[in-house]
Amino acid sequence: MRTPFVVGNWKLNKTIAEALALVTELKNQLGAVKGVAVGVAPPFTALSAVAKRLEGSSIVTCAQNCFWEPSGAFTGEISAPLIADAGGTWAIVGHSERRQFFGDTNESVGKKAKAALAGGLGVIVCVGEQLAERDSNRTLEVVDAQLAGGLAGVAANATSRLVIAYEPVWAIGTGRTATPGQAQEVHAHIRKRLADQYGAQVADTIRIQYGGSVKPSNAEALMAEKDIDGALVGGASLEAADFVAIVKAARPG
Ligand code: PGA
Repeated sequence: MRTPFVVGNWKLNKTIAEALALVTELKNQLGAVKGVAVGVAPPFTALSAVAKRLEGSSIVTCAQNCFWEPSGAFTGEISAPLIADAGGTWAIVGHSERRQFFGDTNESVGKKAKAALAGGLGVIVCVGEQLAERDSNRTLEVVDAQLAGGLAGVAANATSRLVIAYEPVWAIGTGRTATPGQAQEVHAHIRKRLADQYGAQVADTIRIQYGGSVKPSNAEALMAEKDIDGALVGGASLEAADFVAIVKAARPG
């Protein structure tokens, strides 16, 4: 059985003080939650403070991005060793906003995923189609190319630290969620591709999160689908009450 994994992606939000207030509440309210793994992805400026505050809890601290070189003349970048040094244990790579605004490609996402794993982190590789791609029936083809690039350097022996997040771009921050059936269809396809690459047994162990306007009101129906193993939550992760409700909805039935 796969343990669902729910991660709050705070994006470009929260000062250090705000971040600490939120994780303190999460630590208090989620301390006793069983059967679901939980993470938060603060902005880099709050990563170290958040990781320190979460010491002694099972909530993990994730970075929102991870450059592929460990160090050097790369102004503005942050690497896996620095994330680990700050107390982070996971990195999100290939988020659609990185692809859309900051030039991430399937190839660079693959380099980032490989580097995150090499640096000892777990990695969440994000995939998902744009609205025009869905409307022209290209969803699975787009996701295939994103998986091929993103997982190019991910060896089978690292898959225990690999998570895929399926986030249809048209559902991110729009209030328009994929229906559970639409999401499940793509999740099942992703698992088939994982089986092609790693074998069915390994594919069965890899968690596939859904992301895109996940809220307390729709989380339970999404999480009930057989290949949906948790959520990557943006807007609704900025308030403790909503995020806690989503985490609780992801507990196995
Ligand atoms: P959203 O964002 O929940 O605000 O739609 C999800 C994400 O971008 O990971």
